[in-house]
Amino acid sequence: MKDSRELLDPQPSVLRPAKRFRGIEISLIRQINALATSESVNLGIGEPNLEPDATLRDLARRASAGSWHYTPNAGLLSLRKKLAPNPETVCVTAGTEEGLYSIFQAYVDEGDEVLVPDPGFVIYETLAKIAGAKTVRYPMEPPDWTVDIDALLKKITPRTRLIVVNTPSNPLGSVIDAATLQRIANAGPLVVSDEVYREIWYDAPPASMLGLGDNVIIVGGMSKSHSMTGLRLGWVFAEPAVMKPIITAHQYIATCASAFSQTLADLILANADWNASWLEHVRAEFRKQRDAALFSIGRDLEVTIPPPAGAFYAFVPVPFCESIPFAKSLATDTGVLVIPGSAFGERGEGFVRISYAAPIEQIGVGIERMGRYLRERDVSS
Ligand SMILES: Cc1ncc(COP(=O)(O)O)c(C=O)c1O
Repeated sequence: MKDSRELLDPQPSVLRPAKRFRGIEISLIRQINALATSESVNLGIGEPNLEPDATLRDLARRASAGSWHYTPNAGLLSLRKKLAPNPETVCVTAGTEEGLYSIFQAYVDEGDEVLVPDPGFVIYETLAKIAGAKTVRYPMEPPDWTVDIDALLKKITPRTRLIVVNTPSNPLGSVIDAATLQRIANAGPLVVSDEVYREIWYDAPPASMLGLGDNVIIVGGMSKSHSMTGLRLGWVFAEPAVMKPIITAHQYIATCASAFSQTLADLILANADWNASWLEHVRAEFRKQRDAALFSIGRDLEVTIPPPAGAFYAFVPVPFCESIPFAKSLATDTGVLVIPGSAFGERGEGFVRISYAAPIEQIGVGIERMGRYLRERDVSS
C-alpha cells in the first residue's frame, strides 16, 4: 500500500531534484542530436567538423608531457600573459560555458533580471533560471538579425543585473556592429559578451566588446576556433575588481581548467605564425561550407537569406511549419538533423538552424532532402 504522501506526490522525495533544477531538462539541441544514427545527415551539430592538423596534434603531444598538477585557479600565468597584456584580467575556464556559469553564479541573485537575445543561445536562459533570476528577452530583428538597440534599452529596469550579448551569434550567424556594442556597454548594467565565435568570420573580423567599459565581461575560448570542443578550454576577461568573485565561483565549480588543455593553449599561442595560418584555414574551409549551404538553401528551399557574417549557422525560414514537430519528423522520416528555431526563443518559431559545420557533400544532401520533404508536405497538406 502506498502511503498518502506518495499518492499526492508521484515522485519519491529522494529523487526530487533541487528547486533550482525543476523544469530544467537537457537542451532541445541535445534531444534532437540524440535522434542521430550512423546514417543521419547531421546539420544539427554545433561543433567544427575540421580535424586538427599535424602541428596541432604535435603540440598536443608536447602538452601531454607538461605538468598534470592543479594550476592556479585563474589559470597558468604564461597562458594568461599571452591572452591579455594584464594577466589579472584573465581567468581560464573549463570551456566558455563554465565561464558563463561562473559569471552567473558570481553576479546573479534571485529576483534579478537578465537580458538575453531572442533568438539566442539556449544556455543563457537556463543559467539565469538556475541562479533564480528572470529572463527578459530583447529582440533580434530579421532578416539581418541585428539588435534593436532602442527595444533593448527600454527593457532595462532597476532589477537588470546582466545584459548578455552574443556576437557572432549562435543560432543567427549575424554580428553586432561596434556602435551598437558601445551603446550596450554605456547602458549601465554589467554586460557579458559571448565571443566564442570571434575567429570564425567571412568578410571582416567582428567588432569585440573588449575595452568598451569596466562593466564589460568577455567570454571566449578555443572550442570552435581550434576544433577543441572536448578539451574544454575557455576564458573570461574582466577588470580585476569585476573578476574577483568570478574566480571564486570558478574555484568552487572547476578548481582550474585542465592543466593539459591550458598547456596546449599556451603552446598554440606561442606558435603565432602557425596559429595565424590555422585560423586562415578554418575561415577558408567554413567559407566554402557556408557558400555550399547558401547555394543549396536558394536552390532546394527556394529562400534567400543574408549570408551569415560569422560562426557556422544559417537560420532559415520554414514557413507554415511548427519548428519542433517539423525538426523531429524531418529527423525520423529523412534522417536529416536540424535544430528547431523555437529552441532559441519565441522569435525563432518558423525557422530552423542549419549548421554548416559538416562535410560539403552532407550539406548538399541534407538541404536537398529537407527541400523535398517540405514540398511533399506542402502537396499533402
Ligand atoms: C554562443 C555559444 N556560447 C558558448 C558555447 C559553449 O562553448 P564551449 O565549448 O567553449 O563551452 C557555445 C557552444 O555551442 C555557443 O554556441
